[in-house]
Amino acid sequence: MARGRNRTIDDAKPAKLNRTTLRKCLRLFRYLRPHRTAFAAGMLLLLGTSLLSLVFPGLMGKLVDATKGTLPHDTNALLDLHNIDSVALLLLGVFALQAVLGFGRIYLFSHVTEHMLARLRQDTYEHLLKLPMTFFAQRRVGELNSRISADVALLQDTFTTTLAELVRQLVIVTVGLVLLTMLSPQLTLTMLASIPVVAIVAVIFGRYIRKLSKEVQDRIADTNVVVEETLQGIQSVKAFANEAWEAARYGKSVRAARGLALKGARWRGAFVSFIILCMFGAIVLVIWRGVHLKEEGVLTTGQLVTFIMYSVFIGASIGSIPEYVTGLLKAVGATERLFDLHDEAAEPIDLGPKATPLALRGRIAFQHVSFHYATRPDMSVLRDVSFSAEPGQRIALVGPSGAGKSTIAALVLRFHDPVSGALFIDGRDARDYPLTALRDRMAIVPQEVLLFGGTIRENIAYGEPEASQEEIEAAARKANAHSFIASFPEGYATVVGERGVQLSGGQRQRIAIARAVLKDPAILILDEATSALDSESERLVQEALDELMKGRTSLVIAHRLSTVRDADKILVLDKGTVVESGTHDELIADVNGLYHSLSRLQLET
Ligand SMILES: Nc1ncnc2c1ncn2[C@@H]1O[C@H](COP(=O)(O)OP(=O)(O)O)[C@@H](O)[C@H]1O
Ligand SMILES: [Mg+2]
Repeated sequence: MARGRNRTIDDAKPAKLNRTTLRKCLRLFRYLRPHRTAFAAGMLLLLGTSLLSLVFPGLMGKLVDATKGTLPHDTNALLDLHNIDSVALLLLGVFALQAVLGFGRIYLFSHVTEHMLARLRQDTYEHLLKLPMTFFAQRRVGELNSRISADVALLQDTFTTTLAELVRQLVIVTVGLVLLTMLSPQLTLTMLASIPVVAIVAVIFGRYIRKLSKEVQDRIADTNVVVEETLQGIQSVKAFANEAWEAARYGKSVRAARGLALKGARWRGAFVSFIILCMFGAIVLVIWRGVHLKEEGVLTTGQLVTFIMYSVFIGASIGSIPEYVTGLLKAVGATERLFDLHDEAAEPIDLGPKATPLALRGRIAFQHVSFHYATRPDMSVLRDVSFSAEPGQRIALVGPSGAGKSTIAALVLRFHDPVSGALFIDGRDARDYPLTALRDRMAIVPQEVLLFGGTIRENIAYGEPEASQEEIEAAARKANAHSFIASFPEGYATVVGERGVQLSGGQRQRIAIARAVLKDPAILILDEATSALDSESERLVQEALDELMKGRTSLVIAHRLSTVRDADKILVLDKGTVVESGTHDELIADVNGLYHSLSRLQLET
């Protein structure tokens, strides 16, 4: 658990609108392009509904005037707008049309959005899978998870609702203002005199609120990280009786989020009050002026009604615009974060169908390999490591913890590449192989095996999804796993993992071995595969491992020296360098050597 490190990816990048941000947003259009026709149609329907909503105040005015019948000179060829019945019918027609267009608009936008975001989700996830181990060492699972879930959800809201609303409000404001000016320039001026004030203050307000809400989101992400870490490590939490400490840690985090959220709420409240006050102030002003104009005979009652309704429409639109703009900017931030992820350099992983397996014999050679992790360039982990393993040989890596044994395994798997020197596989630089094909010929049995949620069968077939039941069972037999699997009522269909049967360490280990047997790798890595087991499970697992290692090059990292006695070669590693190498007999003969002293230490305990 990397507490406190790399809190969020976006810490350093607030969603400010600059050129790089906009360029990232433009990349969204690549996802939009295949659906541009539907999107354009949706936009047209949206324009239609927005414009139709502006017909309503006009007709209402007509309705009012029609009751009084004050405008005998204004006639219409198709419809008599002085006739109450015609106007009412027309209104109904407008609403019906609006209903149809509204349905179409929502459906089209959803269609476009869902297709677009499904693609984006898939691309993001695929890219994530291709990122190198170095990347994952620096990021938290929860944070990456929220890139795909929360950020994409934000985009979903934006493309289905926010964008449409924003367009609608803008249409209402602009077209509404044109209509108002046509109705009465004097009255429009009165109204405009109050609106810019509201608008400017609203924008400033909105910007501050946006900043606050982003902070709240970050804080809430923090609290979720606490939950996730604690639940993942619940065993440790309980074993250390650390519940109170975790509760306090969560409490602190929750209170911080609450405090900020309330601060945000106060400002949002103030914002709403401000808008209400100013908008209604403006409306009173307009009515007051309008009544004067009516008295002077410039406007009819109906026109005044129309004018006031338009003003209310426009006022409400202007009041809601900052909120939609905020939503849009949030989506911009989400887009930026998503594409930041897309811009992380990926490994050359091949997601296509499996190619014919590489014909590897399994010769491994390290030549003057030096290495440090990208995250800690100042700490050299391997220094001038050279050794070779012939096909089928068993090479043991021993040495104190932190000596660099697992790092050697990671280099063989090409999780990282040497900083200097090179690693050869079958005489060819490992970097020259297609990565996916190369890893496909390797298998690792680690100390802690993680089973995926699913059945035992699926877990064994993890590397070979096409395997038949017979093959799976044969692999399980070789791995000493068949008998315990068969003892479950549901056998190979037993569900394991978070929601299933809990298996013991030794059982999980044997499943992992069966997985490796089935994969039939040329190169096998055992990283302290038996270190965490009791002696009975260790015996079963060791037998299974001996069977597994037959006929392949094996790199055995072992804590207990007794398990590597019959290795073809033992490399003793200390502080990143190979300090001794040879067979057990050769090494034990050197009474001053590290191997000798390590083995004496283990005999004593
Ligand atoms: N992902 C990593 N990033 C930075 N340093 C690491 C990483 N993994 C291991 N190290 C460091 O590299 C050194 C060797 O680690 P490792 O190969 O795991 O040792 P061993 O397996 O022999 O116990 C240790 O000092 C460890 O702290
Ligand atoms: Mg290790």
